[in-house]
Amino acid sequence: MTTNTTTAQLRCMETSCRATFAINERLYTCPACKGLLDVAYEFALPSAEELKAMFRSRKTSDAEIDRSGVWRFRELLPFVSDTGNIVTIAEGNTPIYTAPRSAQYAGLDRLQFKHQGLNPTGSFKDNGMTTGVTQAKSLGAKAVACASTGNTSASMAAFAARAGMRGVVFIPAGQVAYGKLSQSLEYGSLVVEIEGNFDDAMRLVRELAEDSELYLLNSINPFRLEGQKAIAIEMMEQLDWTAPDWLVLPGGNLGNSSAIGKGLFEMRQLGLIERLPRLAVIQAEGASPLYEFVHASDQSVFQPFEHPSTLATAIKIGKPVSWQKAVRALAWTNGVVERVTEQEIADAKAMIGFDGIGCEPASATTLAGIRKLVAAGAIKSQENVVAVLTGNVMKDSTYSINYHTDTLQTEDGVAIGSNFANRSVRVAARKDAIKKLIGL
Ligand code: F0G
Repeated sequence: MTTNTTTAQLRCMETSCRATFAINERLYTCPACKGLLDVAYEFALPSAEELKAMFRSRKTSDAEIDRSGVWRFRELLPFVSDTGNIVTIAEGNTPIYTAPRSAQYAGLDRLQFKHQGLNPTGSFKDNGMTTGVTQAKSLGAKAVACASTGNTSASMAAFAARAGMRGVVFIPAGQVAYGKLSQSLEYGSLVVEIEGNFDDAMRLVRELAEDSELYLLNSINPFRLEGQKAIAIEMMEQLDWTAPDWLVLPGGNLGNSSAIGKGLFEMRQLGLIERLPRLAVIQAEGASPLYEFVHASDQSVFQPFEHPSTLATAIKIGKPVSWQKAVRALAWTNGVVERVTEQEIADAKAMIGFDGIGCEPASATTLAGIRKLVAAGAIKSQENVVAVLTGNVMKDSTYSINYHTDTLQTEDGVAIGSNFANRSVRVAARKDAIKKLIGL
């Protein structure tokens, strides 16, 4: 790799441990203390201005690694010694949209969405999977595995196929949106439906990865987070390297909050940005252990949700594996955590659709959360806010149809109001009838 970086190693995030390991050790957590691992660098790079110019110049290059919205920033994730191992499908490169209707709904003067749902497999997971699968290839792995609420599995299945590796995905039976399930099947992974929830699947795949050849590609794997860092990097480039006041994210397994926090921290360290935005992590009320933790008087224990419940199935997670890193990211950025109801998520999702953007339910927690934080005075209406939409509107069309036909119900059977329903209308196959209907 063409970089002046001196070292890249694995390092335990626990300040009481800080054990370090070689970059090519097949580790997911610290063998000494079980803490989470970071890919840690001693950066020795050109100036911030030179880096920015280099990143920009690659936009006109046709080289495969330059066309990736992750590897275009490779000096900031320099853990690959042989770029021939890079597995890429031109991930990242996602737009930032202004969203006037959503802004008005939230009570903001202006709101922007970075739409990670426009990745090749329709979610932000592609950003992290390109780096995860690249590391798998560098380690010589033949089979990769993950537990998933659907998007990680869809993404891993695609990258495993591209890399010629066997993919094995573990999903909670009956709890994955069809758009996502169909992708894992199409991309040829072995799909294992666990009779349990995501947290059960996660525990099982971690155990399997400890005593088998399966290489684990959940976000507990620190190489996943290196790619997801690039969501923040690309966003800052699009904002001319000026941080917004707030960066808003949905929170599930908390890998993304962790990754974006690390990316922001490193960008400031390298002088690419002057200040950090405040992070706001939004959870669904029925799956909000991070919210409970940061608002608890006793922060000595992280209390999982044993029975998480939300129709935003992507974030139906009670035991987030990366919570310590998310808490660290909140501390770095003076961040906040909010939680939102099923009704708030549903209405916010409809509103994002009416901006001509659209997203899957988990992504809509962002707008619902912003609205709550504005109403509470935590976010001021004139502040600059960028929210990350994590998944494509087509991932969970069942949810959209149910909302717009006024049949959406919580998992407990409680009706969700379709406050912004856009119902289809049936009409006789006659021009006069259609004209009358449209009011022509
Ligand atoms: N939004 C979407 C669309 C997701 O798929 C996920 C996570 C999140 C938000 C939350 O991100 O876990 O990093 O806090 N989906 C994982 C999966 C769990 O298996 O696809 P997080």
